[in-house]
Formats: sequence, structure tokens, C-alpha cells
Amino acid sequence: MLDRINALLSEISSYSITSSEELEAYRLRFLSRKGLIPELFDDFRNVPPSEKKEVGQKLNQLKQTALDRYTSLKLQLLRTEDSTQVGDLTRPAYPWFLGSRHPISIIRNEIIDIFSRLGFTVSEGPEIEDDDHVFTMLNFAPEHPARDMQDTFYISRISDEYSSPGDILLRTHTSSVQVRVMEHHKPPIRAIFPGRVFRNEAISARAHCIFHQVEGLYIDENVSFADLKQALLFFAREMYGKNTMIRLRPSYFPFTEPSGEMDVSCTICGGRGCNVCKYTGWLEVLGCGMVHPAVLESCNIDSVKYTGFAFGMGIERPAMLKYQVNDLRLYFENDIRFLEQFRTAF
Ligand code: DAH
Repeated sequence: MLDRINALLSEISSYSITSSEELEAYRLRFLSRKGLIPELFDDFRNVPPSEKKEVGQKLNQLKQTALDRYTSLKLQLLRTEDSTQVGDLTRPAYPWFLGSRHPISIIRNEIIDIFSRLGFTVSEGPEIEDDDHVFTMLNFAPEHPARDMQDTFYISRISDEYSSPGDILLRTHTSSVQVRVMEHHKPPIRAIFPGRVFRNEAISARAHCIFHQVEGLYIDENVSFADLKQALLFFAREMYGKNTMIRLRPSYFPFTEPSGEMDVSCTICGGRGCNVCKYTGWLEVLGCGMVHPAVLESCNIDSVKYTGFAFGMGIERPAMLKYQVNDLRLYFENDIRFLEQFRTAF
């Protein structure tokens, strides 16, 4: 009996496997109910009493060795499978760094979110535009100063002296998207248009030749100035806090009549006066008005049946206020030290 046990011990210690089938063969040979070790336990009955103690110990040792070997063979198999298939499961996880959003994107998404709660959808238009969509169809007179070379980046001009509908340029405002949408969709239209705009300005802490705007447009039957005011009040309170006040000042834009500019009570001093609001208590945030009938007609929308409001705002300024950024250029330099500061904001 002892010889058989020793023979099995040496067989087990040198046993090797390469697959789960071979592991199972090991189990069947040594450990299963009809395997060699249970068979030895059966035979133990026939061992003479004088040898029982020594053989019994040896037999238990054999069983333990066989079980330990089974476990280690199984682990070895798992490890080889792991390294070829899913990597080492015991390796500590790599740290997972989340990126950060650009502050302009954060504010843009906030604006989109607020207006989507009022049922506004989002559309976008091209950055390279023609004079027609940026100026003419928005009721800009041919000699309007905004068309001037000083303000507009022209890509190709038909005439050096006058701007023409076919001139190709970088859009100077997102109001051009109003035209694109009204050309292709019939009222009711309720949408906002975020995007980049371009003006030929000297770059400084307070001005840049590229910036971002969000335009809004609502066209339907019986849309009134009261609807505009209420939508803007809702926006201001969601964006700047529930105690925010708004005021509308009369203004002029060729594509709206009447036109206004909206101020909100200063987000820094709450209206008491500080150097951010230049001690007026108010901050200018957007331009707005009732869409000019000439604009509706240029897009083939019946200006007797339909009315609408529009508004447009910059994104850089609210972002400067919110994050106390004092230099516009930081938004465009993509300095990682600046961008990383927005890591926790989504
Ligand atoms: N497009 C104007 C700008 O760039 C902003 C604006 C004013 C948009 C009034 C509008 C509006 O839709 O109604 O300064």
C-alpha cells in the first residue's frame, strides 16, 4: 500500500496540464469517486492494524497533496488563459482621469438646457456664409456699416466697392441661421442656434476676432412681445438665479422691430453697484426684438399671419462672469493649465 501511495505522490507532484480538459482528467484519475485515491481509502480496510497508523497518515497526506495540486493546476490554467485573453485580473486598476469641458461649452450647454425646457430645439448653420443670409435677407441696407471690411472677414467679393448677395464671408452673427431655418421650415418654429462667429477686431483681453453666440427664434401665429419678455425672464432667472431682475432698453437692429437690449441685475453685486457693472447695477446680456416683417417675407413666410421674436447673446461674457475670467484670450489658447480648472464641471 505504501508503495502505491508513494508512486501516486510522485505522479501528482510532476503532473502538468495545459487545458481544462486535462485538468478534468486529473480530477477523474485521482479525486473522483471512482478515482485512485478513494480506491485506496476503500482498500485501507484491509491494512493490518499494526500498519494502520502509518498508512492512514500517509493516505491523508496523499489526499491533501492531490487536492492542493488540483487547486494550483486550476490557478495556473486561469492565469495562462487570463494573460492571453483578458489580462491579469490581479493587477491594480489604472487610474481613470476624466477630461474637462471647455467653459464656453459648459455655458452653451446650460443655455441650450434652459431653452429646451421651454420647447426650443437646437439647429446649426454654416460658419462660411454668403452676404444674403448674413445681411441682405436680414434687412441690412446695402450701405450698412456692419458689412464693412473693418468688421467682416470676406472670403470672396464680387465687387470691391459694394457688398453683393453673392459675396462669401465668415458670418458675423448667428442671426444668419434664422434665415436658413425659416427658408426651409414652415412655422411654428421654436429653436435656438449656437455657434461661432467672426469679426475683424483687434485681439485684446476684452475683444477677439472669434467668439460664440446663441441665437433664438420663435415664429407662430399670435406671438407677442409679452411672450418674448416672459421667455427672457424665465431664461435670466434660470441662468443667473431666481432673484435676478431684467430690464429691456429700446434699441435698433435691422431684422427686428421693435428691438431691445436686455440687461440683468448684476450677478456680482446683486444690483447694488460694483466695478464689474461699473456701478450701474446692470449687465447687458442680449439683443432681441420682434422679427421684422421684411425678414419673414424674404423667407416666404406670411407676415400677416405669422409673427415672432428673436434674440441673440454672446457666450464669452456670461462665462467670464461665472468663472471670473478676466482675459478673453484664455478661451482660445487651449492652455491645459486653464482648461484643467474646469475639471469638476460638466
Ligand atoms: N445679431 C445681433 C448681434 O450680433 C444680436 C441680436 C440682436 C440677435 C437682436 C437677434 C436679435 O436675434 O433679435 O449683435
